[in-house]
Amino acid sequence: MQEPTRFLTGITPSGTPHLGNFVGSIRPSVAASRSGGVQSYYFLADYHALIKCQEPERVNRSTLEIAASWLAAGLDPQHVTFYRQSDIPEIPELHWLLTCVTGKGLLNRAHAYKAAQDKNHEAGRDGDDGVSAGLFMYPVLMAADILLFNAHHVPVGRDQVQHIEMARDMASSFNHLYGSHFTLPEAAIEDNVALLAGLDGRKMSKSYDNTIPLFAPREQLKKLIASIVTDSRAPGEPKEVEGSALFQIYQAFATPEETDAMRRAYAGGIAWGEAKQQLFERIDREIAPMRARYDDLMAHPEKVEAVLQQGAQRARAQAQPFLQRLRAAVGLRPLSAAIATPLPKTKPAAAAALPSFKQYREKDGRFYFKLVAADGRVLLQSTGFEAPREAGQAIARLQAEPDALAQLAGQLAPVEGVQPGEAAAALQALAAARDE
Ligand code: TRP
Repeated sequence: MQEPTRFLTGITPSGTPHLGNFVGSIRPSVAASRSGGVQSYYFLADYHALIKCQEPERVNRSTLEIAASWLAAGLDPQHVTFYRQSDIPEIPELHWLLTCVTGKGLLNRAHAYKAAQDKNHEAGRDGDDGVSAGLFMYPVLMAADILLFNAHHVPVGRDQVQHIEMARDMASSFNHLYGSHFTLPEAAIEDNVALLAGLDGRKMSKSYDNTIPLFAPREQLKKLIASIVTDSRAPGEPKEVEGSALFQIYQAFATPEETDAMRRAYAGGIAWGEAKQQLFERIDREIAPMRARYDDLMAHPEKVEAVLQQGAQRARAQAQPFLQRLRAAVGLRPLSAAIATPLPKTKPAAAAALPSFKQYREKDGRFYFKLVAADGRVLLQSTGFEAPREAGQAIARLQAEPDALAQLAGQLAPVEGVQPGEAAAALQALAAARDE
């Protein structure tokens, strides 16, 4: 039987969720988690939260609020493995294993880190000013989140795509060194997530201070909705739906029929006060039952804690044995195992340490080869050949003719970081092993 497709989503607990989060993320994710044939992992990325927030009470409070919000919005923890990142010690452990196979240069290129550096440089400061090692390592922690559960798809916004690509890189490096352990994850890009307008008509966002908290009490919800900006058209004057924040928010909650009715009401000159009342009632109708569940969970944090503990148990039932396998793969094993499998001294050791040629075809349709050291470093990189046979002939010459390296220089692209003589030494080692 084919294994089910695994989706994994991390939610950084920061701040209180608002209607924009609900429409853009919580509601579609909860709906997706209910579809059959997929296995979903949703977790609270509280280790990630520490990078930005160093107020313990806020981290704790926010974790509770976000967990309660998702549960209140209908996330079914029977259906979805729902857990808190910091309850899974296998995540930071895998983080270290991945750290050791990740080039520092890869992390230097992370957008978030580069943005922090650029900002510093513009202000005339040292590039790393105020940049924590946590921010720098962010992509590795995220890769650990994803790879620990061998997720196939990771739904993310465009800003996170680079992180998924980096997770793939780390998975490939690890697999290359230690055998095939990790699935290479793919970003499921959410391009058409609904962006909700905020109170002032700009996108609803914490940073604009124009949000409506998802579970604001009824009276506060009503007041906030009353403060949504409108133009100065009087009752009876026809109104534009285009560019109307109020209409846009209404549409995000209403059925197509209700939306049509509101469009007609706009054309018919509905008073703003009346339109706001209708919006309030429409939102409250959808949110009220969730709000009741939310209030109950917030009053009984132990219920949320119990759900998360169960989720952690389920997640760890999978993570623990997998991490054991990874530990063994990298050589973190009980010492008694060392007796059972003594270090191979003779031929296999030499064979294992040998570099090797790899041939492949690129997207440009041309054929390439590279010489890869035993530790995975690329020592030689060819340019593209028209036919696989040409690439094969070049490889054969490199292995057979002592001065082929110089003669074929035109078909070899420089590889950054390779010392002069390294490739020649590797070729000699290959030749020596063959002659043995
Ligand atoms: N970095 C993500 C964000 O800011 C949150 C996150 C942490 C995440 N770990 C993850 C998302 C793993 C997907 C998979 O939104």
